[in-house]
Amino acid sequence: MALVAPSILSADFSKLGEEIKCLDREKVDFIHIDVMDGHYVPNLTFGPPVIKSIRSYTDIPFDVHLMIEHPERSLQDYIDAGADRITCHLDATRHLERFVQQVKSADLKAGVSLCPHESPEALRYVLDDLDLILLMSVNPGFGGQSFIESTVQKARDLRKLLAGRHCEIMVDGGINLETGKRMVDAGCDSLVAGSFIFKHEDPSEAIRGLKAL
Ligand code: DX5
Ligand code: ZN
Repeated sequence: MALVAPSILSADFSKLGEEIKCLDREKVDFIHIDVMDGHYVPNLTFGPPVIKSIRSYTDIPFDVHLMIEHPERSLQDYIDAGADRITCHLDATRHLERFVQQVKSADLKAGVSLCPHESPEALRYVLDDLDLILLMSVNPGFGGQSFIESTVQKARDLRKLLAGRHCEIMVDGGINLETGKRMVDAGCDSLVAGSFIFKHEDPSEAIRGLKAL
């Protein structure tokens, strides 16, 4: 059974509250929130005020994926807005270990995301501190892109590197039933999916299908 984290990037923003309630009814494991700043990635989405406004619609943990430069500068705003897990990108902060400790000292789960070209080896000396590692299987910035094949081997390599540690491996980008199954087989614990769920004629069926992998 895979953990499932729908990405609201592909939801209908004009009725975000209703979309969140639908995910709540499906009892998804996390709600994945893609924060983009127009600098680290070319796209711009939403920030703490939107996260705060949807917080009351569900108790499902908010899995906040920060695609922003200098994430440590606005970290407190995301904590205050109601994030439960916060992930930043390896190449977006100069002092990753400090970022991780700041998240953990607020009693939240801390994650690091790797872009398709980045090696899990870069995380070797912080592995004991991480709650999750988010493998990007597309280049960050947009929903609806195609899955990058090399992520399968990367997940296998990371699973070996983790050597039994309690650190979740999550994958994000181009996930559907086929790519999701391959990533679970490669050692992933949780699947982020945006367009596969929200563009599906029956989003509930899409969620159930992913959960069953
Ligand atoms: C991309 C985001 C993803 C995105 C995934 O930068 O991090 O979470 O929403 O969308 P799909 O599932 O459509 O590839
Ligand atoms: Zn994401």
